[in-house]
Amino acid sequence: MARLRRSTHGGNVYAVSRDLSRDVRNLIDFSASINPLGPSPRVWQAMADSRHLLAHYPDPDCWELRHTLAKCWHRQPEEIVVGNGSTELIDVLPRALKIRHLLVAHPTFSEYAAAMERAGGRVSAVYAQRTEQYVQPIGDLCQVLDTRRPKSTTIDGVMLCHPNSPTGQACTVDEIRRLADIAQRRGVWVIIDEAFADYCAERSFLSAAVSWPRVVILRSITKFYALPGLRVGYAVAKSAVINALRRQMPPWSVNVMGQAAASAAVNDSGYAQKSVRFMDREREQFGFMLAALPGCLVTPTYANYFFLELPRGWHARELSAQLRSEGVLVRDCSTVPGANSRSIRLAVRSHDENDRLIQALSSLLRQQRS
Ligand SMILES: Cc1ncc(COP(=O)(O)O)c(C=O)c1O
Repeated sequence: MARLRRSTHGGNVYAVSRDLSRDVRNLIDFSASINPLGPSPRVWQAMADSRHLLAHYPDPDCWELRHTLAKCWHRQPEEIVVGNGSTELIDVLPRALKIRHLLVAHPTFSEYAAAMERAGGRVSAVYAQRTEQYVQPIGDLCQVLDTRRPKSTTIDGVMLCHPNSPTGQACTVDEIRRLADIAQRRGVWVIIDEAFADYCAERSFLSAAVSWPRVVILRSITKFYALPGLRVGYAVAKSAVINALRRQMPPWSVNVMGQAAASAAVNDSGYAQKSVRFMDREREQFGFMLAALPGCLVTPTYANYFFLELPRGWHARELSAQLRSEGVLVRDCSTVPGANSRSIRLAVRSHDENDRLIQALSSLLRQQRS
């Protein structure tokens, strides 16, 4: 019998709960970067109001949600497609756009390469440098796209995670414009994954992207709106691109509750403002405390997580396992291409939870040194 593929992502509270015989509510999850404020109160109401729809199939067109999002981004509803999390859209993109050879900047989200593998395509990479605090290597991406190659090795898509996971680094809108210009000239698709961009709205390329026919922006409703269990994400692009994506998607992939909750969440601007204010404050304090841990290196971040390098002598796998045994989950990044064996990613959570993690980390790191 084929073995189940082990999850390479954070957030698997179920496995830890089984292993420790501990309820999920008694775990602290720093491995998935979810808004610690929890869902907007309007979400609960919207879900209660939609109960009668459970006996019907969901709206296959996600009409209301697409209209809500279109209004929010000043785009047409035909320029938006909703998926079962942005993961579903990442999965269908290579087939929908006939991308055979994708360029990525490591270290980055592993699903881009996984989706290409499933679609039978290949991936080439440039690398953000540790010595440059993992700033996004836009110059290198542009250079690769601008280099003439034999037809059989031509790159036809570039994927940019913005802000990047796991590093948290983000480019300026001008840098992305430069990349998009070159890609446009070369006939290359540019996909910008803005799953965490709600935390750095001034760097989002979504509004500017309207002028680039070969740019696709991906957004997630699961992180900023704290709804990962409902699985909703969307893509914004020209309507012909959206139609190509829709043709590859199964019907009804976004359920009734997901559609209702996402519409309510996106319409709650007060929740969005509160979440950004909360994150600005907690991220600064948490970052300050992480940087004070002896021997640890913290990468500057534009997202709701930190990329941390442990002191020499430590392995991320070992530290993650020790914290896991105490019911604290962190993201071990030691196997992420382009990151080293001491790399972990930590979500910014509530003030008390962040304090608890700092205490756990300092006591573990002290033990090792003595
Ligand atoms: C960078 C990035 N993009 C996309 C996703 C997928 O998010 P979702 O499918 O929940 O929308 C994730 C999930 O961890 C992610 O880290």
